[in-house]
Amino acid sequence: MTARDIILEAHGLKLHFTTAKPLFGKAKIIRAVDGVDLRIRRGETLAIVGESGCGKSTLARLLVRLFSPTEGSVTYDGQNIANKSEHDMRALRRDLQFIFQDPFSSLNPQMSVGALIEEPLRVHRIGTPAERRTKVAHLLSRVGLSPQIADRYPHEFSGGQRQRIGIARALASGPKVLIGDEPVSALDVSIQAQVVNILEDLKEEFGLTLVIIAHDLAVVRHMADRVAVMYLGEIVELASVDALFNAPRHPYTAALIAAIPVPHIGARVATAKLQGDPPNPIDLPTGCRFYPRCPHATDLCRSERPILTNSDHQVACHFADDLNLAGLSDNATARSPAAAARFDLYREARARKDKEAAT
Ligand SMILES: Nc1ncnc2c1ncn2[C@@H]1O[C@H](COP(=O)(O)OP(=O)(O)OP(=O)(O)O)[C@@H](O)[C@H]1O
Ligand SMILES: [Mg+2]
Repeated sequence: MTARDIILEAHGLKLHFTTAKPLFGKAKIIRAVDGVDLRIRRGETLAIVGESGCGKSTLARLLVRLFSPTEGSVTYDGQNIANKSEHDMRALRRDLQFIFQDPFSSLNPQMSVGALIEEPLRVHRIGTPAERRTKVAHLLSRVGLSPQIADRYPHEFSGGQRQRIGIARALASGPKVLIGDEPVSALDVSIQAQVVNILEDLKEEFGLTLVIIAHDLAVVRHMADRVAVMYLGEIVELASVDALFNAPRHPYTAALIAAIPVPHIGARVATAKLQGDPPNPIDLPTGCRFYPRCPHATDLCRSERPILTNSDHQVACHFADDLNLAGLSDNATARSPAAAARFDLYREARARKDKEAAT
């Protein structure tokens, strides 16, 4: 792999927040992102997964300089953007776009749909007013909405429609990298499949690199080429989607896969269960951060922090070579009809779309 193949690279990336100072005692440090090295390949779809609070949104915002790091660099197009001013970022904003989780609060209710989608074009002085109107109409139709709706306002639309408006807006400036922070989590399941498929088609059409943050492993398995698993501010495993789901090497990844729900209430596939809550990013355990919840932990895990390997299938676990962890083999999917049903839903939506495109 050459430097040209890497579009965005994070090195030693940290963002520590400081809590408000209490009346007695000292302010505490929250290690939201704590030493991430990541190379995003041009044209890939990379998913970032992990439990709530592990630092996914913070990392995503760092990658497009919506946050500045405490330490480390983010390189885009040969430039370190980590500490660039908003002014210096202006030209690069065209290339690096972000889709927010919440389609209800991320669109200005005072602006018409057309004005919302046109805004990035105006900001970057792209095209004449007539060309911009044509572009808005094209973008609306690409996300499956009628160009006639340009004069209407966001509150007149459903969650799924608003998320499509948000996607059209993110695409207006012709970005190279699109980061979606849980872009479909607020939508109901059948609408999710439509929006996911729209994102995939647009990725082809616009030659995008996609970074998708998602809780839902069905979405991840369907969309991603590679998956990064985060735990308490660190990446603990990163591999191709098939390697990660079929042969996970970190006990935490195995536990996430095993926790894909099955339909009877409370039941889970009976393998490596995730015990307890994730520890607090203020009081981190010494050694491996996962050891308090890991069924395989030893004294070594308590005292030594494992380093993420630098290989095709990256993992940060002292015992990755010794453990034989269960993955989401077809067998496991069969044992988890709910997961199988979700995967089928995406396949069906895709097949329907391909059929429509062919006729
Ligand atoms: N602006 C902030 N100030 C202080 N702490 C913050 C701030 N933003 C995030 N945090 C803390 O940093 C940690 C990581 O938060 P982050 O939002 O990145 O998690 P996440 O993985 O995106 O979670 P979720 O899945 O719930 O969206 C959490 O402990 C969170 O409380
Ligand atoms: Mg988040």
